[in-house]
Amino acid sequence: MMHLGLFIAGEGHHIAAWRDPRARSGASQDIQHFAELARIGERGCFDLLFTADTQAVFYGDDTEQWRRTTQASRLEPITLFSALSMVTEHIGLVCTATTTYLEPYHVARQFASLDKISGGRAGWNLVTSSAPAEAYNFGFDGHPSHEDRYDRAGEFAEVVLGLWDSWQAGAVIEDQDSGIYFDPDKLHRLNHKGKHFSVRGPLTVHPSPQGRPVIVQAGQSEAGRNLAARTAEVIFTVQQDKDEARAFYADIGTRAAAYGRGPGTIKIMPGLLPVVGKTRAQAQEKLETLQSLIHPELGLARLSAMLGTDLSGFDQDGPLPDLPQSAEQPGRQKVVSELARRENLTIRQLYQRVTGVRGHRVLCGTAEEIANSMEDWYRSGAADGFNIMSLTYPDELNQFVDEVIPILRTKGLYRSRYEGRTLRENLGLSTPG
Ligand SMILES: Cc1cc2nc3c(=O)[nH]c(=O)nc-3n(C[C@H](O)[C@H](O)[C@H](O)COP(=O)(O)O)c2cc1C
Repeated sequence: MMHLGLFIAGEGHHIAAWRDPRARSGASQDIQHFAELARIGERGCFDLLFTADTQAVFYGDDTEQWRRTTQASRLEPITLFSALSMVTEHIGLVCTATTTYLEPYHVARQFASLDKISGGRAGWNLVTSSAPAEAYNFGFDGHPSHEDRYDRAGEFAEVVLGLWDSWQAGAVIEDQDSGIYFDPDKLHRLNHKGKHFSVRGPLTVHPSPQGRPVIVQAGQSEAGRNLAARTAEVIFTVQQDKDEARAFYADIGTRAAAYGRGPGTIKIMPGLLPVVGKTRAQAQEKLETLQSLIHPELGLARLSAMLGTDLSGFDQDGPLPDLPQSAEQPGRQKVVSELARRENLTIRQLYQRVTGVRGHRVLCGTAEEIANSMEDWYRSGAADGFNIMSLTYPDELNQFVDEVIPILRTKGLYRSRYEGRTLRENLGLSTPG
């Protein structure tokens, strides 16, 4: 079956969503708003709920542009998703934690606790932090290099996986007569000593019904793809073109096989922002209304950050110049530059096109057209499912659940009810020994 993630964000994924007259004031910090989105997600039988994270208000050093977006304000993900675990029963809970500015013992313990609290529905989106400004909140003078970040991330993942295996099945015996609570032979110390970390363990949290949280990643670069092929069970990705998405899918399959991992052990879910209309033109109009609310200063600054080059000195109605390789997001830079070349877009057209939704694929059309396109990518090996975003919340999401999901069900592509109780059961992933 096709797998769907619900990628939530306060007012919506469009950068100008908060300026939409329908927007809810203060949504990005409102737990009742997020609880409603989680319930809509369960109504649509989504596999998982997902939230991204940046541990800084400002992305880079350019602080001016941020006064025009809500993306500077964000609740801490684990805290938010722990609360959402109490108002949901089936939907997976995938949130983000960085390996660059956190310690593995903290991350292992937080996600194992969320997994336990939710009855086995947790997932960890492992990132190395794409926002350079995070460095200044953790005592760094600057953001470590892409290479150094992935070197640390590899060992970090190993330590977290090791800690999640601390409590062997049957370790807890709770023998009130003998006064023995657990069998020390079944509680394992990690005793990890590596280049970046020295972690003895064990962890204080017992395994959930799904054994351990699901690992998710979204790397696009060589280093990102290799780490994902070695450790991830779900991969989120930015794909604008079906053939490129198929190539990415096949490439991950090849890399995973080199690590002894067979087909189906990794679910690949490109981001998708469907805009549903009675006609394609009406859907397009919805999008353009929000595009027109993007302030030029913000659009240009956001595109510059995405491409790693300040574009303010270039003619905005001219083509994108050749750019030096981005240090932060080489993967995203490649996807966005190729889009500009392929469609011959000016700088202004490009920032309107990509900054609205951070380079993710936007699909405007009727519910039928959107369902057909999702089926096409799914059946042609470009995706196991999609990470669904909405322009604004909750209306656009409700429309997707009410109009597109029933068509996917009629096609026999999507579940009508949850099969299991854990995230692994939703995703059809095995429970690790
Ligand atoms: C769906 C999706 C969600 C992401 N979430 C985050 C996030 O929450 N925090 C973050 O720092 N980076 C996030 N990223 C960025 C990726 O982790 C990664 O850095 C980026 O895709 C570039 O790939 P590379 O790291 O291999 O160069 C996300 C990317 C995608 C596609």
